[in-house]
Amino acid sequence: MRGLLLALSATLASAASIAREALPVGAAITPGIEPRGKPNHHHKDKWGCNKPEYRHKVTIRASANDTDDVSSDFLWAFKKANHGGTVYLEEGSTYVIGKKLDLSFLNDVHLQLDGEIKFTDDIEYWQANHFYYDFQKSITFWVWGGEKIKIYSETGSGVLNGNGQAWYNGFAGREILDSDNTYYRPILFLTDNATQVDVSGITMLNSPCWTNFLIRTNDISFDNINIEATSNNISALPKNTDGWDTLNVKGISVTNSNVNIGDDCFSPKPNTSDIYVKDLWCNGTHGVSMGSIGQYPGVLDYIENAWIENVTMLNAENGARLKSWAGPNVGYGYINNITYDGMYVENTDWPIVLDACYFNIDPAVCAADPSRVNITNILFKNIHGMSSGKEGKDVASLVCSPSAVCENIRLEDIDLKSPTNPDQQGVVLCDGIADGVGVPCVASNSTAA
Ligand SMILES: *[C@@H]1O[C@H](CO)[C@@H](O)[C@H](O)[C@H]1NC(C)=O
Ligand SMILES: *[C@@H]1O[C@H](CO)[C@@H](O)[C@H](O)[C@H]1NC(C)=O
Ligand SMILES: *[C@@H]1O[C@H](CO)[C@@H](O)[C@H](O)[C@H]1NC(C)=O
Ligand SMILES: *[C@@H]1O[C@H](CO)[C@@H](O)[C@H](O)[C@H]1NC(C)=O
Ligand SMILES: *[C@@H]1O[C@H](CO)[C@@H](O)[C@H](O)[C@H]1NC(C)=O
Ligand SMILES: *[C@@H]1O[C@H](CO)[C@@H](O)[C@H](O)[C@H]1NC(C)=O
Ligand SMILES: *[C@@H]1O[C@H](CO)[C@@H](O)[C@H](O)[C@H]1NC(C)=O
Ligand SMILES: *[C@@H]1O[C@H](CO)[C@@H](O)[C@H](O)[C@H]1NC(C)=O
Ligand SMILES: *[C@@H]1O[C@H](CO)[C@@H](O)[C@H](O)[C@H]1NC(C)=O
Repeated sequence: MRGLLLALSATLASAASIAREALPVGAAITPGIEPRGKPNHHHKDKWGCNKPEYRHKVTIRASANDTDDVSSDFLWAFKKANHGGTVYLEEGSTYVIGKKLDLSFLNDVHLQLDGEIKFTDDIEYWQANHFYYDFQKSITFWVWGGEKIKIYSETGSGVLNGNGQAWYNGFAGREILDSDNTYYRPILFLTDNATQVDVSGITMLNSPCWTNFLIRTNDISFDNINIEATSNNISALPKNTDGWDTLNVKGISVTNSNVNIGDDCFSPKPNTSDIYVKDLWCNGTHGVSMGSIGQYPGVLDYIENAWIENVTMLNAENGARLKSWAGPNVGYGYINNITYDGMYVENTDWPIVLDACYFNIDPAVCAADPSRVNITNILFKNIHGMSSGKEGKDVASLVCSPSAVCENIRLEDIDLKSPTNPDQQGVVLCDGIADGVGVPCVASNSTAA
């Protein structure tokens, strides 16, 4: 009897709580449409979740200025929208986030981002308050985790703004991979322990560091994304603003997107498989890179099963690149089954690269302790355009490690020229590849190089 009464009062309490609970100032919850008849596929999306019109909508007040932090309202909204609702941020409004946010509890939630989420640039606060990952000493403002998470803009006006300028100014003169670097900068969007995540139709602006980092995440897609990072300070570039990086990810798709940043455009890192990229435009980047992997001593890393189709690569350091670490204190692993099919390059230093001596390592150190990352079944197909000429007439550099397998590396339908020699095919360098690469190539130390 007592149990029954308790259960009854708990039910009454929860029914009344929505009505009674004080909402944050300016917040509201509006119910979704009730599905007519038994819920069926007309009401449900591919994950079996309610489509947008059948979801309750949670709104919060916008920020009045760049220091008007609404992070606690934002967190409240996600708790209310979780399990079937939508957090809606309206076009023309800015929502300032000034506190770190743990969004690891999500399950069946949408963020309709038609407005702008902007992080404060309080460097002192964020360097003391963030989420930290050992891998390349990464930090972030917030962590997204859980399942069935959809972030989209209905109007195309949605922005995630990392407010990076102060970070670029403060970081100037440093290098992220320097072992003594402690000037950590937050990543703009990070998932950890997430599955079934779709992000579409938004702009990701001025991330202080990498733009996207996906960790322990499966089945994630990005469609119709614009990534931009620009600095108004010529002596403080937006460094390390990579488009996408991954760690322990299975199933990632990036389609129909534009990236205008100063580091890797798309760059899966250790333990990434089932990668699909199509219709990607990259400007001013370090290319579409598999890796780097094999960085940490004793650790096995792999990248496997990637399909990269129709990339436009402008003003880049590299086009299609594979990179692995070498030296005395590094790891091992493999890169296997990677296809680049269709890449147009313009003003790019090295359109095609296999680098088994990453990063900035003295060649003598790599020769003494070569990379132990096997590289197999790689196809570079239909890659055409003009290099920058920075490497003279060389357009491709494939330098394998003598201590690892390097097998079935093929170039097909390559038409790459250099402005220093525009009437002839550019030179392909290749070292340590037993059966060649399917097109004429010369040793990197030959006089033809
Ligand atoms: C920013 O907006 C908040 C909330 O309206 C207000 O309290 C604060 O004074 C404003 N700050 C500035 C610098 O305008
Ligand atoms: C990962 O998320 C699931 C729920 O989606 C949770 O049950 C599990 O504890 C999480 N694992 C870790 C290591 O955080
Ligand atoms: C530009 O960046 C440099 C290097 O950090 C810094 O010294 C300078 O103050 C910055 N300029 C502006 C206008 O912020
Ligand atoms: C390649 O991608 C570009 C966008 O980057 C797009 O405009 C073009 O239509 C795509 N080409 C094909 C053949 O799909
Ligand atoms: C491409 O990037 C360069 C800088 O690397 C910039 O000057 C140019 O405006 C960009 N082009 C486009 C179309 O954004
Ligand atoms: C990659 O996966 C291997 C094998 O499962 C594991 O031993 C290794 O720690 C992972 N690497 C990273 C960087 O997590
Ligand atoms: C190689 O990767 C592709 C995806 O690009 C995948 O469809 C194919 O099954 C993989 N091949 C093998 C042998 O796993
Ligand atoms: C690299 O290939 C060699 C020779 O097949 C093999 O013994 C080794 O286990 C491979 N390494 C990895 C990490 O798969
Ligand atoms: C080029 O390097 C190979 C070993 O990698 C060496 O055997 C050969 O003598 C070198 N050739 C020249 C011209 O230095």
